[in-house]
Amino acid sequence: MILSGKARLAGILGWPVGHSRSPRLHGYWLRRYGIDGAYVPLPVMPENLESAVRALPMLGFRGANVTVPHKEAVLPLVDVLDETAARIGAVNTLFVDDDLRVHGTNTDAFGFLAHLRESMPTWRPHDGPAVVLGAGGASRGVVCALKDAGVPEIRIANRTRGRAERLSDEFGRPVEAVDWPVAPAVLGDAALLVNATSLGMRGQPPLEIGLDGLPETAAVYDIVYSPLDTPLLIEARRRGNPTVDGLGMLLHQARPGFHAWFGVDPQVDEGLRAFVLESLVAEEAR
Ligand code: ATR
Repeated sequence: MILSGKARLAGILGWPVGHSRSPRLHGYWLRRYGIDGAYVPLPVMPENLESAVRALPMLGFRGANVTVPHKEAVLPLVDVLDETAARIGAVNTLFVDDDLRVHGTNTDAFGFLAHLRESMPTWRPHDGPAVVLGAGGASRGVVCALKDAGVPEIRIANRTRGRAERLSDEFGRPVEAVDWPVAPAVLGDAALLVNATSLGMRGQPPLEIGLDGLPETAAVYDIVYSPLDTPLLIEARRRGNPTVDGLGMLLHQARPGFHAWFGVDPQVDEGLRAFVLESLVAEEAR
């Protein structure tokens, strides 16, 4: 590790922040690229968020990631909010510019799509409709990515239909809401199925959706990464569908921040995957 008086600084604002994988992830890249810099956990209570954001430029930070529970609360606190973060309604990455202004963006959509393209190089947005399960914070990043990529139809099914409708109203065409119980019936021409609910996550019930109607060529993407092999992905693989796990999205969404703070566009390689996976497996065993 190199840490001189000129080290570049970044970190992650969260409360609590101890669960975050980001220090491990950025720490791997800092070592790998031999960068004089540090990425540190920044435990910030909600009532201190505004002071903490204002303090970043004053302390010489180049920026930070933002995690639970601050992703929405930080929106009005930044000096410049970019369009992607405004559309997603959440900020996960902050940059400090040369005039010490704090910029807020959201890299979840980038991470989602980068991992999809890397895992399935043959996937094209125009292959067919996408069905997205869930209409929470994670789903907003997924829908934004798919719309911007040019997917011709995006069907959102959510247990609480009103949330799916709100998403469809906000994002407009080609996003539409469908009833949660009829989701299996709208899989027939889908080229992509995405689980953006918390179902299947460790400690949560599994996602139970009949895949019988889904073409075998359709990709099944689960953004849950703990466990990595969710019941949905296991079932999809059994039927012969190509699958995309949630870990790559977590790793790729970190790239734009690292690039802006430390000046290197870092690679998501097997070494990084194994390094982050090790901590997930250790946690699962606990
Ligand atoms: P995140 O930021 O991770 O997306 P969230 O905003 O709490 O978290 O969203 C969780 C998603 O999982 C929602 O789409 C939620 O559906 P509701 O909007 O109806 O709450 C979905 N979800 C959670 N538990 C569920 C369950 N038991 N059955 C179906 N959907 C569920």
